[in-house]
Amino acid sequence: MERPEIIQSTATFVAGEFASEGSGHDWFHIDRVRRMALRIGKAEGGDLFVIEMAALLHDLDDYKITGLESHVPEKAKGWLSSQNVEAEVASLILQVIEEVSYKGSDVETPVSSVESAVVQDADRLDAIGAIGIARTFAYGGHKNRLIYDPEIVPEMHDDFQSYKSSTAPTINHFYEKLLLLKDRMNTKTAKQMAAQRHLFMENYLQHFFDEWEAKG
Ligand code: NI
Repeated sequence: MERPEIIQSTATFVAGEFASEGSGHDWFHIDRVRRMALRIGKAEGGDLFVIEMAALLHDLDDYKITGLESHVPEKAKGWLSSQNVEAEVASLILQVIEEVSYKGSDVETPVSSVESAVVQDADRLDAIGAIGIARTFAYGGHKNRLIYDPEIVPEMHDDFQSYKSSTAPTINHFYEKLLLLKDRMNTKTAKQMAAQRHLFMENYLQHFFDEWEAKG
């Protein structure tokens, strides 16, 4: 199969897998990450086929979706071999997928290639700004979390286990993850976009707390 056909059949496969996903990791998230990753990749470099494929497959094996402990992208691996993607290219794509995920405020998530840097940035950009806010509350509702509880203070997580098992209200997630992301971007292109989205979230939180205190 030619590369454009592989992309097309991968998009169709992933769209089917994520059709009824209510936690904010739906097909449109995947498609936004794909488009953003291509935009950043065109500016920053990297193999666009690897970038686009990794973006399309990046959440297929995510623990938040599969409920599994392991983050080995088994499903993505199986899919790539079904599409006869060359072993060398497939292993690059899988490497990118493994490096994308956020694992807690104090847990390092280094990238080993420009393609990883690009896809990680695209996924993180989708976690902040107006869409990030919407997705965060959707995910909180999906997990039955409170919107906010003034008694429960945000907590920094220095290991993946404690981050993953957190049951804190959704507003805390802004402090435990979203507001930290602008300083975690790898590329110049993403840093610029993240700065705008960050300001928007700070503004949003200001309004949120003003309204909470009956000031706004
Ligand atoms: Ni994602």
